[in-house]
Amino acid sequence: MKVDFNIILIGFMGTGKTAVGKRLATLLNKDFYDSDQEVEAVTSMTISKLFNKYGEVRFRSEENLAIKRLVKKENCILATGGGFILDKKTIKLLAEKGIVICLSARPDVIFERVKRRNNRPLLSKGNLYQTILDLMEEREELYNYADYCIDTSDMDFQEIIDKIISILQDHKNTNEDIPLSKEI
Ligand code: S3P
Repeated sequence: MKVDFNIILIGFMGTGKTAVGKRLATLLNKDFYDSDQEVEAVTSMTISKLFNKYGEVRFRSEENLAIKRLVKKENCILATGGGFILDKKTIKLLAEKGIVICLSARPDVIFERVKRRNNRPLLSKGNLYQTILDLMEEREELYNYADYCIDTSDMDFQEIIDKIISILQDHKNTNEDIPLSKEI
């Protein structure tokens, strides 16, 4: 299938945006970008180090700049960090640049997926399960900005990929009927 729009993956930590994005990029012959990797490359620091040394505000500002740079690319898949949606202006910008797909999962599933990793500063303090619940509640409404949302809780990796491919196919079919504004 040829998909000529950008695909932007958003969603909570541990929903598989990076792994899914990489696989889709291979399948659809697109370039893959990840906002966290971009931030790490630009600052020459891991996300944890950046948080520890300069705090969340500085991280968010680097993340915002990274996403604004990456979203200008064509024919790509962009996986975003779970918290970038806190900046509503950037979400709107992304929505203009491609199809936005949100991956979600129940808190217990997220807990199982992230509990053995310590690379996410926001999840490294206090009670992990409670922190997940609190952050999810705080962000729930913001993830709804996506064009499509997939609850991955009971899906395996291949099912997630298949679901996205079918969404893209539908999206493509629907939008083929709509003339591009420059042709009107
Ligand atoms: C964050 C999510 C992380 C990373 C940072 C903050 C968040 O990315 O950007 O630790 O605020 O949800 P992933 O969603 O890829 O884990």
